Amino acid sequence: LQTLPPMQLADKYFQIFPEERDPLWQNPCHDKRHKDIWSKEKTCDRLPRFLVIGPQKTGTTALHSFLSLHPAITSSFPSLVTFEEIQFFSGPNYNNGIDWYMDFFPFPSNVSTDFMFEKSANYFDTEVAPKRAAALLSRAKILAVLINPADRAYSWYQHQRAHQDPMTVNHTFQEVVTARPASPRELLILQRRCLKPGAYATHLERWLHHYQPSQVHIVDGSQLRSNPALVMEGIQRFLGVTPIFNYTQALTYDESKGFWCQRVEGARPKCLGKSKGRKYSDMTPESRAFLTEHYREHNMELLRLLNRLGQPLPAWLREELQSSS
Ligand code: A3P
Repeated sequence: LQTLPPMQLADKYFQIFPEERDPLWQNPCHDKRHKDIWSKEKTCDRLPRFLVIGPQKTGTTALHSFLSLHPAITSSFPSLVTFEEIQFFSGPNYNNGIDWYMDFFPFPSNVSTDFMFEKSANYFDTEVAPKRAAALLSRAKILAVLINPADRAYSWYQHQRAHQDPMTVNHTFQEVVTARPASPRELLILQRRCLKPGAYATHLERWLHHYQPSQVHIVDGSQLRSNPALVMEGIQRFLGVTPIFNYTQALTYDESKGFWCQRVEGARPKCLGKSKGRKYSDMTPESRAFLTEHYREHNMELLRLLNRLGQPLPAWLREELQSSS
């Protein structure tokens, strides 16, 4: 019997099986052969029961903070490098393996009542994320938050500008969204990053390829903003989490912030930071008209998809389709 030192052996192995270069992590406890060799000191319970997948700028941080108020729901620990999000299924962190991922979750104190979750807003539109998520978390539930994709694009642009991204500082929103194939490459890259997540139906179909419709819940982000207590009730029922937590008492509308915030007894409400709920001028009518047209077919697809799933249509989707018909 011949063998080689570990690195050379690995090189040899991947020469023979190149398709295995990219790992696909599965839950070790779902397969007896894997479980038998899984260390006795480890558990398979340090994994989330549900994911908030994004997309960015739809109210995912507000949803994360509201969920964290629930006594039976536990969030992952914040990552110090990627804006608090773990971003495991969407990029290079995936190569760190499942021990690395599990370290972001506490040991469940009572597995039957603890609903652990994580929110990484770029999962929604990352090609590989649903396949990877389903391989490890096949029984998880998935929450996606949708607002009018035109507003999402504008919020994203304002976010980039606030971070002094040179391309957004030097180009108006109208210039970004209307860039043509002959425009500078950097502008086209920015345009794609701005507009692509808003093709909601395309991204959702990818998730639905790996998860059952009953595992996926679409959250109306506009309603989350205007009436979070109602939306949080629907989410709790979808998750099957008990007891139903009363968000009408836990949240209060803060006039100066202009958003719903956590009620704190005898003190000012605890709102999200300055980077959430920014003040900026309204989108110009030209940009809105352009984006209504740009997203018309995508929104029609979303309408068909939601009808197929039997999920309610967000008010913004009805309005958008009426205004573009
Ligand atoms: P703006 O800052 O453009 O208004 P995300 O957390 O996914 O990045 O989304 C940020 C957006 O969440 C904000 O975009 C804001 O409109 C929205 N939002 C919804 N409810 C909110 C709340 N209670 N507090 C702050 N922002 C909220």
